[in-house]
Formats: sequence, structure tokens, C-alpha cells
Amino acid sequence: MMYKYLLAAALFAPTFAFAGDCDLEITGNDMMQFDKTELTVPATCEEVSLTVKHSGTTAKQVMGHNWVLAKTADVAGIAEDGLKAGLDANYLKADDTRVIAHTKVIGPTETDTVKFKIKDLAPDSDLSYFCSFPGHSAIMKGKFIIKK
Ligand code: CO
Repeated sequence: MMYKYLLAAALFAPTFAFAGDCDLEITGNDMMQFDKTELTVPATCEEVSLTVKHSGTTAKQVMGHNWVLAKTADVAGIAEDGLKAGLDANYLKADDTRVIAHTKVIGPTETDTVKFKIKDLAPDSDLSYFCSFPGHSAIMKGKFIIKK
């Protein structure tokens, strides 16, 4: 009887995300690669924090990396427009409304963190992250999954 009650309580307990589950980290290297091809966060995250790191030694002007989140369908357009924007603009068109979140472009030993809310994003959204440095988005990309 007692066991049944506890089991029911466990099953119906409201789910919540541990802060750690909402803190993401990804590293770009000199081979134009991210160390992850997928990032997952619980839908219950109040705020997501993403830190991008650079493990290489090649200068930012040559092998810079940023982290940009968008709908998968928007990735190509954002990357194309970002190319013209230049490094000082983090290879992103000014006020590009297609961009959900992004860090700045970093070089070796640098890191950057972006914090953003996901509550307005449907858990079944087809989202991707990528690096908008010219030529990088074809390889430096992955799925961003909001887990119900
Ligand atoms: Co890159």
C-alpha cells in the first residue's frame, strides 16, 4: 500500500530541470569542428547557458568560431548574410531576427557565453546550431533538441 502510494507520488511529481542540465558547453578546434553534433536541454529550463570554447591555436581571423542557434530552415540564409557582415559583426547580419541566440566569434584561449530562454520555442521545433564564420556552417553544425 505504502509502496504504491510512493510510486504514484514519484510518477506525478512535477518534473523540473536541474540547473546543470541547462548549462551547455561546446568546443571548436583548428580542424573546423565542434566536439558535439547534438545538444539537448530539458524543456523545463528557465534559462539556458551556452559557453563556446576554442581548443586550437589558429587566429580568430582564420579559424574563428561562434555558436548560433536558429531554426534549421534558417541556417543557410543566416550564414549567407553573415558572411557579408564581417568579423567585427561576428559574421551575423545586424539584428537578424532569425537568430534565436548567439555568441561572439572567438579565437584560441577565448570563451564566450550566451544565456537565453527557450519557453517560447516549441519542444518539437527543428532547431540547429552552427558556426557562422565563412565556410564553417557546412561542417560546424548540430541539432539542438528541447526535450519534453
Ligand atoms: Co567556426
